[in-house]
Amino acid sequence: MANPTITTKKNIPRAGAERVDAHDKVRGVTRYAADDARPGLLHAALVPSRIARGSITRIDTSAAQRVRGVRTVLTHENVGSFDTGGFLMGGGFGFQSFYPLRSAQIAYRGQSVAVVVADTLEAAREAAALVVVAYEATPFVATLDAPDAEPLAQTAVLPQPMFADRRVGDPEGALAGAAVTVDLRYTLPAQHQNPMEIIATVAEWEDGVLTVREPTQNAEGVRHGLARQLGIEPAKVQVLSPTLGGGFGQKNSLQSHTALVAIAARALQRPVKLVMTRAQLFHNASFRPASRHHVRLGADRDGRLVAAVHEIDQQTSRHDLFPSFGTEITSRLYGIGNYQGRERLVRTDVQTPGYMRAPFEHPAAFAFESAIDEMAYALGRDPVAFRLANDATADPLTGKPFSSRHVAECLIKGSETFGWARRTMAPGSMRAPDGSLVGWGVAIGTYKAAVAPAIATVRLNTSGTVRVAVGGHEMGQGMRTAIAVTVARALGAPVAAVEVALGDTRAAPQHLTAGSWGTATALPPVLEAAQRLMEDLRKNAGSTASESGVTALALLRASGRPFAEAESRRRAPGQPEQVFGRLTGGLPAAAGPVYPDFVGFSFIAHFVEVRIEPTTRRIRVPRVVSVADCGAVASPRTARSQVEGGVVWGIGAALREVSEVDPRYGGFLNADLAEYVMPVAADIGRIEVDFVGKPDLRLNALGVKGLGEVAMVGVAPAIVNAVFHATGKRLRRLPLMLEDLLDS
Ligand code: MOS
Repeated sequence: MANPTITTKKNIPRAGAERVDAHDKVRGVTRYAADDARPGLLHAALVPSRIARGSITRIDTSAAQRVRGVRTVLTHENVGSFDTGGFLMGGGFGFQSFYPLRSAQIAYRGQSVAVVVADTLEAAREAAALVVVAYEATPFVATLDAPDAEPLAQTAVLPQPMFADRRVGDPEGALAGAAVTVDLRYTLPAQHQNPMEIIATVAEWEDGVLTVREPTQNAEGVRHGLARQLGIEPAKVQVLSPTLGGGFGQKNSLQSHTALVAIAARALQRPVKLVMTRAQLFHNASFRPASRHHVRLGADRDGRLVAAVHEIDQQTSRHDLFPSFGTEITSRLYGIGNYQGRERLVRTDVQTPGYMRAPFEHPAAFAFESAIDEMAYALGRDPVAFRLANDATADPLTGKPFSSRHVAECLIKGSETFGWARRTMAPGSMRAPDGSLVGWGVAIGTYKAAVAPAIATVRLNTSGTVRVAVGGHEMGQGMRTAIAVTVARALGAPVAAVEVALGDTRAAPQHLTAGSWGTATALPPVLEAAQRLMEDLRKNAGSTASESGVTALALLRASGRPFAEAESRRRAPGQPEQVFGRLTGGLPAAAGPVYPDFVGFSFIAHFVEVRIEPTTRRIRVPRVVSVADCGAVASPRTARSQVEGGVVWGIGAALREVSEVDPRYGGFLNADLAEYVMPVAADIGRIEVDFVGKPDLRLNALGVKGLGEVAMVGVAPAIVNAVFHATGKRLRRLPLMLEDLLDS
């Protein structure tokens, strides 16, 4: 798709269409689930477990019950039986298979042990603090590195092909014969998504139909999961998630508290709202698991990579095996003919970790792209030239072509914009006028170009209103804008006339929106439906059809019909028709990166400048240049914003964010925004974003690939490589701490 016409009055170059939801958002008109204040609304509060593992021996809710305004206190003793919603990666719907209150079991610190419902939030929270729980505690494992934590080979515990080790050629033999080798270990901590909008649920029953308003990336999964948990027909459940204040994977599946809110609402015959606290979000929703990486590379003297072995240990929970996929990308970053990827899972007593933006790709790229930089230095090669010299021409694993691959252009374009040619190779060789050490670093990233099935309808009324319904969730990434712009252009309608229903199970089947497949999934059927509608009107109009510039609305009005409507159903290349059954059943149905005739990946290159204050060693990032290959750019304004956000996330991951664990107690210590340190505006310098912009027409008719996650892949290693260039010090543990640099 070419750039949409600029419709703003201020003609910002290459800005693209304004966000269709921008004005409502900045004026506070947008209503989120937590804003709900419908008549009769009751308020819920969760009571967290104070132990990390064991069981409840006694629970006393009498003091809580006596608080004025309390309507009920649900515990495992009185909640009644309800089913599990299952685990997303095990055929179910939840971020984990464990659903609190189904038994007396405690699986992790912070797990809910009771739900209080009251007339006011204040009463609910006061009463929640008065619930008295006695526990029997059992030994637990809090961290990846605990003595009792035992790695399990993923390929053995999850014996399906999609979880298998990746291997091509003879990596060990090639390593043994390589002229130059590096052998390096990296560690990354657990981290938590902290979207501005915390998780909130409003449940209401009317005539036996349950309506749930909850920010989710997976309304259909929540719907079917709840139906299973409550033992009712999916037709009796509707889930509305029109706008999220950030998802980042934390909201990608059924939460373990949602059914409890619905059960309370049913029992009390009143709508019930639960808004988690920030601290509860750290313990009741998913997070990025801690991981360890062992990378070995071999190269010949000419600077050709001949072998790579990437071994990953990733944290999971006691009750679920959250799989690791990091080697999916490190096997494709370069054209290395001998590659071994191996993933292991380590059980710990936490809620099940999950998908946090570039969940595997960011950690894997941190390790691999740091090692690549070390190899470039070991060979005395410029890090950009070394990467270009090892680019892949086909997928090393499958031998299939890439649907498109322009990572070399990302590197070339980025180095020109950044001024890489002025870099001097030696560590510590560049200084700022104020005496700061200057470091310039580079890294690349890739992320699968996945696609899910979708059904879209476009309806035009004689009033001029266009209604679009499709599967997809607007998390702030700009999907609604991209859809509105696409439909408006196809129909010759103003963007403002297009209403886009997203995240609404009443409007269209809602596939999980994650894995950066949202735009490539929703836009093709939306465009096709709009084109069909236009064709239909043209055919109907006969001779007027040849007029160029004629709008759909003019044709509709001339036709005398009250409305025109068209539908389109699209699925990923190679997917069977039955995949629509998974879509309507609320199950994950995305395909990729391996398709019948090609593999699909998005790419990016990041160039980072760091400045390090020579005595305090304070690290600043004044400048980043990022160039992405995401195929055609569907919505330039929101695409650029996605990359800027990804870079900020990378800066956070490299220099700030860590979820601290006290191994004596489990849980997460710094469970608030004061102590979970994220970059703020003052930490962010200039971020220049550019795109290759070449459509990937093998993947879909618009040529779009994903962008939201590849944006952050490679930022952290580019920063760490820049810190090495500034100081000569290789740091292999994130986030970087000032004390790591103080002794140098
Ligand atoms: Mo994203 S981490 O796949 O929601």
